[in-house]
Amino acid sequence: MRIGLIGSGFIGGSVARLALAQGHEVILSNSRTPDTLADLVADLGPGASAALAADAADAGEIIVVTVPFKNYTAVPVEPLAGKIVIDTNNYYFERDGHFSAIDDGTQTPSGALAEHLPTSRIVKAFNNIQWEQLLHDGLPAGSPNRRALSIAGDDAEAKAAVTALIDSFGYDVVDAGGLVEGRRFDRDKPAYGPRATADELREMLARG
Ligand SMILES: NC(=O)c1ccc[n+]([C@@H]2O[C@H](COP(=O)([O-])OP(=O)(O)OC[C@H]3O[C@@H](n4cnc5c(N)ncnc54)[C@H](OP(=O)(O)O)[C@@H]3O)[C@@H](O)[C@H]2O)c1
Repeated sequence: MRIGLIGSGFIGGSVARLALAQGHEVILSNSRTPDTLADLVADLGPGASAALAADAADAGEIIVVTVPFKNYTAVPVEPLAGKIVIDTNNYYFERDGHFSAIDDGTQTPSGALAEHLPTSRIVKAFNNIQWEQLLHDGLPAGSPNRRALSIAGDDAEAKAAVTALIDSFGYDVVDAGGLVEGRRFDRDKPAYGPRATADELREMLARG
């Protein structure tokens, strides 16, 4: 599979590394030109390349949007039409500035991205695990105490594809429900951050 990355920082670089280990191709991008990602591309090795964000979006079959939340409106829209988009973004008002609809609870961070990408099939994932843990906590399917990660989204087929990807990275997957249920594992919720098995994560999501 070709996986496009819109954002290639801590979490984008980690997802890219895990995807390459599973034999996927990754197309990285950032807010600048592809040459600025040459070191990361070299470090990731065969299967990795860099492009402008719109071209990475165009090339990918699954696209990971992993930028500071405040920049979500710069994510290219047209090349992502109809595509599976993984949203890792978190809203931190200290970094992103205040978004009143999120502050007052009428909007979620993933809902905001979904408004910006109205025909994309968005799955919220990877927002509640720290990048170093994501790289190292994965275990083969069936391992005792395997860590679980939560997803949320409105498109069942997209969620199935993302579930398979996350499982291949070494994690069980717990479906929290529709995209709006992603609020159950947003910042400051019980399911934001701690290492948890699937059963533990379900309990945390219910409390969130
Ligand atoms: N760090 C974590 O452990 C972690 C875990 C889970 C979720 N998250 C969330 O995931 C998102 C990314 O976090 P991060 O830690 O990976 O951030 P980061 O290391 O600061 O990387 C951000 C990346 O986004 C790129 N970017 C910024 N604006 C862009 C734009 N308009 N178009 C394309 N690319 C753009 C940056 O490129 P430039 O260098 O060109 O600016 C950079 O490659 C955030 O929302 C964060 O809250 C982070």
